[in-house]
Amino acid sequence: MKVIAAVVNKVNGPYEMEALQLSEVQQDEVLVKIVASGICHSDEALRVGDAEFPLPAVLGHEGAGIIEKVGSNVKNFAVGDQVVLSYNYCGTCPSCRTGHPSSCKDWPMLNMSGMRPDGSSVFTKEDGTPVSNFFTQSSFATHTIVHQNNLVKVDPDADLRLIGPLGCGFLTGAGTVVNGLKPEIGDSMIVFGTGAVGLGALMTAKIEGCSTIIAVDIHDSRLEIAKELGATHTINSRTEDLAARVGEITGGLGVNFSIDTTGVAAVMKAAIDVLAVGGITAPVAVTPNSIEIHTVLDLVFANRSIKGILMGDSVPQLEIPKLIGFYKAGQFSFDRLVQFYSFDQINEASADSNSGKTIKPILIIDETYRADEPLPV
Ligand SMILES: NC(=O)c1ccc[n+]([C@@H]2O[C@H](COP(=O)([O-])OP(=O)(O)OC[C@H]3O[C@@H](n4cnc5c(N)ncnc54)[C@H](O)[C@@H]3O)[C@@H](O)[C@H]2O)c1
Ligand SMILES: [Zn+2]
Ligand SMILES: [Zn+2]
Repeated sequence: MKVIAAVVNKVNGPYEMEALQLSEVQQDEVLVKIVASGICHSDEALRVGDAEFPLPAVLGHEGAGIIEKVGSNVKNFAVGDQVVLSYNYCGTCPSCRTGHPSSCKDWPMLNMSGMRPDGSSVFTKEDGTPVSNFFTQSSFATHTIVHQNNLVKVDPDADLRLIGPLGCGFLTGAGTVVNGLKPEIGDSMIVFGTGAVGLGALMTAKIEGCSTIIAVDIHDSRLEIAKELGATHTINSRTEDLAARVGEITGGLGVNFSIDTTGVAAVMKAAIDVLAVGGITAPVAVTPNSIEIHTVLDLVFANRSIKGILMGDSVPQLEIPKLIGFYKAGQFSFDRLVQFYSFDQINEASADSNSGKTIKPILIIDETYRADEPLPV
């Protein structure tokens, strides 16, 4: 079938609307009609070449839609099901079997190679040029083909226009706290960068009972929102002395956990420097930058550690329904961070995310979905 997709043809090129050919559904795959998709900073990292990816490509990995066809081997999903799409994993390696599918041995191949494991492509141009898919998902398209392991079934009453971003950004933030850092009640947490990932982490730190939650950003408007969502303290690191403020807030002890979502080298280093004895930092940004550390002074003498955490070390099928539950209970108000755009406004939506104007852009791809109901926020 023919689909309309936003294609990135070269590094730093814009999203271009093109008609592509979608292949047939294989036995473990489903055809999904995309209703809406969030834009995550990782899409932008690929578009601008901060992370290597074979182009041309259809990006997008925070999709939500409706299943229109299922492959012969697909279990537990049927035509008409409402689904949120997350990442793909093999399901049988030791990491998958022990509940850590984002550590799947095939994760890079399944999510970042652009092709299926058999080398075939999901999308092709009219002249036969293969077009890469991303995360086995590629949600910046009217229809896409998704592996059954990417799928998270949601209730028929869930509004698919809102919940796509639970598949990556907010899942990453929340999972980094619950699965990665695992604070105990009364612990302290500092989050650098209050975008979708940072604010997802912050709301979760509150749910988990952290008593001191510090949000750091360079935009006061974002820090205001952080405060409303549960930050006990905010620091504008452009205008305030970070180390002095953290010292003041923690009585000179430092914080138990830090998360960097900025990817800025100096900030990733600061996220180590503010740690208390025994503290753990999670640098989760997708960034070409790296830092130098003094293993003895920065880590050993204070029993500190650095922990890499992919996709919040989450099992999307378990965590996303929990996040929807917290949202319904008013504890995970990610809807406050969302701005809707039409599909053809994708370049504008992406630019608004870069400039800081919009925290989480969502593209409405199927304008007919619940057209008689107002947008959910
Ligand atoms: N590890 C993973 O599995 C995973 C998953 C999803 C996203 N990510 C990555 O996480 C990062 C955050 O994603 P996001 O969607 O929240 O991005 P975002 O751009 O919305 O948020 C980043 C925030 O950092 C702030 N910031 C920038 N420079 C700063 C500085 N010097 N000091 C303090 N704050 C600063 C910005 O103002 C912004 O609010 C991205 O790099 C993204 O690619 C990682
Ligand atoms: Zn993402
Ligand atoms: Zn696996």
